[in-house]
Amino acid sequence: MTSRYAEVYESWRSNPEGFWMDQAAAIDWFTKPETAFDPDLGVYGGWYPDGVTNTCHNCLDRHVSGGRADQAALIYDSPITGSKRTISYRDMLAEVEAFAGALSDKGVGKGDRVVIYMPMVPEAIVAMLACARLGAVHSVVFGGFAASELATRIEDSQAKLIVSASCGIEPGRIVAYKPLLDAAIEHSRHKPDATIVLQREQHRCDLIEGRDFDYAELVAANAGRKVACTPVAATDPLYVLYTSGTTGQPKGVVRDNGGHMAALHWSMHAMYGVKPGEVFWAASDIGWVVGHSYIVYAPLLHGNTTIVFEGKPVGTPDAGTFWRVISEHKVAVLFTAPTAFRAIRKEDPEGSFIGKYDLSGYRALFLAGERADPDTIHWAERMLKVPVIDHWWQTETGWTIAGNPMGLGLLPVKYGSPAVPMPGYDVQVVDDAGHPVAAGTLGNIVVKLPLPPGCLPTLWNAENRFRDAYLAEFPGYYKTADAGFIDEDDYLFIMARTDDIINVAGHRLSTGGMEEAVSGHPDVVECAVIGIADSMKGQIPAGFIVINNSNGRSEEDVEKEVVKLVRDQIGPVAAFKNVMVVKRLPKTRSGKILRATMQKIADGEAWKMPATIDDPAILDEISEVLAKRGITGKSD
Ligand code: COA
Ligand code: AMP
Repeated sequence: MTSRYAEVYESWRSNPEGFWMDQAAAIDWFTKPETAFDPDLGVYGGWYPDGVTNTCHNCLDRHVSGGRADQAALIYDSPITGSKRTISYRDMLAEVEAFAGALSDKGVGKGDRVVIYMPMVPEAIVAMLACARLGAVHSVVFGGFAASELATRIEDSQAKLIVSASCGIEPGRIVAYKPLLDAAIEHSRHKPDATIVLQREQHRCDLIEGRDFDYAELVAANAGRKVACTPVAATDPLYVLYTSGTTGQPKGVVRDNGGHMAALHWSMHAMYGVKPGEVFWAASDIGWVVGHSYIVYAPLLHGNTTIVFEGKPVGTPDAGTFWRVISEHKVAVLFTAPTAFRAIRKEDPEGSFIGKYDLSGYRALFLAGERADPDTIHWAERMLKVPVIDHWWQTETGWTIAGNPMGLGLLPVKYGSPAVPMPGYDVQVVDDAGHPVAAGTLGNIVVKLPLPPGCLPTLWNAENRFRDAYLAEFPGYYKTADAGFIDEDDYLFIMARTDDIINVAGHRLSTGGMEEAVSGHPDVVECAVIGIADSMKGQIPAGFIVINNSNGRSEEDVEKEVVKLVRDQIGPVAAFKNVMVVKRLPKTRSGKILRATMQKIADGEAWKMPATIDDPAILDEISEVLAKRGITGKSD
């Protein structure tokens, strides 16, 4: 099939507002928008300013009344607990209405924030949709974050209520959520009115009388209750998702209702090439943007069946789990992070598990969240014999910036490139002064404003931070903070971040945030955290600490305590396990730590002595410490 991409992209370019009005027609509105875009709204304008809608209605009610009541909305498959459950659109709507009723009895209404801190269970999605139904704004916090990260999010969002669970389950250990939740509420200066806790049989927890309520009891008490969808403006917030910024204070990415639905709905058929009724699986977590967009909202908006998978690509129980899920639930398209495939390949390099399952209905693998290395793509293509499609996006955009659109007909693949920009995105590469660079030249990747529907209109309660972080450096453009180039065929190549964000197993983390935690240790005088290459996780953090050893403590003890500190303050997901005591940190004469040079040394890459270095001998000291730890190039 010849690709329609060029024609569709051009139809957007020649008439952006007409293009997005056409996409809005796929959504149900209480009041249909007559205007596609208002440039005077918010920081850079807003989509469908006069539209009134409800996202939960579009995810559930309209499918129930439109003939999909008995279709599975969601299949929960949890190899880690040995359980499975299929929930039809009809039953999902009933549970969401019951839970929305319970939330509204607790005083949650339009515009109120609700923090959701839950593992990968259907009730988490019920909670998200119940908030959407009431016009409340959810903020989901990933279960691998520690109490203080949760506290920051409770405080910043001023959450009225928290929905949580008694535990999450990781291979070989139960993660008790309640102590983390209680500690977070204690740390937060803002206190929620109530918490609702899903008791899981693997580990029940005590509830505090008068503050904590049992999820199942509330749903049972409200069974059969009808709760109407609250009309919200298209531009009202649907959710806030906190993501790593350059400091320990995360950024609250705001998502609106109308533009988000129009963009995600379009992406399901144009980008992923699925038809309503088919089974779509995003093997991610609802704590990340991929989970928000492609486990919850997009598949349900589009009338697909979504898979809620509670497990890991390997070890639950083996490297064949993904193929079992695809075959058992007839998954048409799988979307995950490259790291999951690197993990599977390491366990099963010959793909011996693949042949055990019938994958005849499976059509494509989409990868995102981190750079998809060509080696992994080649392996997946060879093993699965389906197109393997890299696509590039960010928490901020909520959907693909650049990709190879399967639904429009695939373009030729260039390994190492996520292909071409999607309609809505005018992607350019500029130098530090903001001037466009020639094809093939590395520079800052920027997107001409306005951003398309679905992208963040602002940061939660931080409009100035939004302007400063994203719009100030290149006026008229959104700064992606990714560096890369566009080749002569308009294919984009994403090479690196321009800030201190690192990508660990597809999880976005801030080295600045880790440095804040490390420097909290009383014996640490100075520190630097960098991301170093890792053949499985893409990157892992490495900390260099200068310690005050006047109190005679051993270096090993301090290193161990620093590892624990980051685990306790940021969470296990930081995978912060490498800490090295060094005598001094390499700096420029003006005192700036030479993190980029340290990273090149650690990764075994070519590096040049920075002209402004204060004392070149320090780099030799760093090399020696790294060599002693065996970190001299890509580690295993
Ligand atoms: N709750 C509590 N702890 C969690 C957690 C959660 N939801 N998710 C991860 N963790 C913990 C892990 O148990 C691990 O703890 P440990 O240090 O005690 O071993 C730590 O955080 C690091 O986790 P992770 O980075 O996931 O590494 P892993 O070795 O457990 O698993 C992979 C490696 C590749 C299997 C795993 O990272 C994976 O499945 N990645 C898919 C990527 C993904 O979903 N990305 C989202 C964007 S698309
Ligand atoms: P997150 O906000 O967690 O989705 O992380 C976004 C960042 O991950 C981007 O800015 C990129 O640095 C990186 N990223 C995501 N997808 C890709 C991709 N397909 N190729 C290269 N980098 C990617």
